[in-house]
Amino acid sequence: MSDFTSGFWHLFVAAVALIGIIGCAIFLWSQGGATYTIGQTTGHSWDENLAEFNNPLPKWWSWLFYITVVFSLVYLVLFPGLGANKGILGWTSHNQYDAEVDSAKQSYGPLYEKYRNMPIQAVAADRQALEMGQRLFMTYCIQCHGADAKGQKGFPNLTDNDWLYGGEPETIELSISNGRQGVMTPHAFLGEDAIKGLANYVRSVSGLSADPVLANRGRDAYMASDCSTCHGVDMKGNKLLGAPNLTNNIWLYGSSEEEIIRGITYGRNVGDGKSTNNRMPAWKSFLGEDKVHLLAAYVYSLSNK
Ligand code: HEC
Ligand code: HEC
Repeated sequence: MSDFTSGFWHLFVAAVALIGIIGCAIFLWSQGGATYTIGQTTGHSWDENLAEFNNPLPKWWSWLFYITVVFSLVYLVLFPGLGANKGILGWTSHNQYDAEVDSAKQSYGPLYEKYRNMPIQAVAADRQALEMGQRLFMTYCIQCHGADAKGQKGFPNLTDNDWLYGGEPETIELSISNGRQGVMTPHAFLGEDAIKGLANYVRSVSGLSADPVLANRGRDAYMASDCSTCHGVDMKGNKLLGAPNLTNNIWLYGSSEEEIIRGITYGRNVGDGKSTNNRMPAWKSFLGEDKVHLLAAYVYSLSNK
């Protein structure tokens, strides 16, 4: 409530609130003294024969209303709400949040500490730890990797034991801690024919149908271009760069000739608006090392049953 641009608005808002509440109370009180003839109608009628009686307000209703008036006045004394007034309890949403975080730390702290000092493989064998890891995964990871962790186009499947960066427990933890973004440079300069050949070649080494003439041309282009720098001469990929293995039939972006051509032409994650822009966020500072440790164990368990 400290963001009023001037003292006037603080007073204005406080006055509107108070006048509103007190005005309601006065109006209610002024009506309480009115006299009515029980059974007499106001003379209005609807739907031909629905008549409106002119009876006094029920007592319970008036009292409920008075109670809400008193409640709101007490509330405004205790809590912020009257202009910039902070309320005598000193409550703010910030310190409520801090208190909740503190109490969560107190109840979960010892648990996290126990797992923090265990190796990831051992944590992955602990049912309670996996449940905690799964809950974290459901909160922070499923929008990209899916609730079943099987990924989607551009977001890797975490259950198949095929890794861009490596499936060793420490490597998984590193991926989660620091984030990842594999960059493939664009290759439009190779020309459409060479790129079409490359796409057929890549499909053929994965055992998919391909035009043999084009695939042959693609093999030459693969060796002549810089593809092997990142994907390797054997095409098995490079985990230091996150360059995928091109010889298995597991695809980050899809196996269609069209999709492969798009990737070779525009590259991946180049940051130019033409290529994809998929990034694995870094979680260490946001979640803390303890939660990352539990997540690493959960992810590890998905492909190491
Ligand atoms: C905003 C989307 C996004 C979110 C959220 C996200 N990831 Fe990722 N993640 C990615 C992308 C994209 C990659 C692949 C990076 C690349 O292609 O270089 C990836 C890669 C990974 C890898 C490495 C996989 C490999 O094959 O080496 C792991 C492990 C991983 N994510 C785990 C997680 C966990 C655990 C969470 C939740 C804390 C999470 N991710 C949340 C987008 C996301
Ligand atoms: C600078 C390193 C680099 C070079 C050079 C490079 N790539 Fe890549 N390539 C990558 C990375 C990294 C990815 C994964 C991108 C991601 O994580 O989003 C990738 C992805 C791919 C994919 C998609 C695989 C899938 O599973 O969907 C194909 C196909 C591919 N590259 C083929 C090629 C070909 C053909 C060439 C040569 C013309 C080449 N790459 C050159 C780094 C490279």
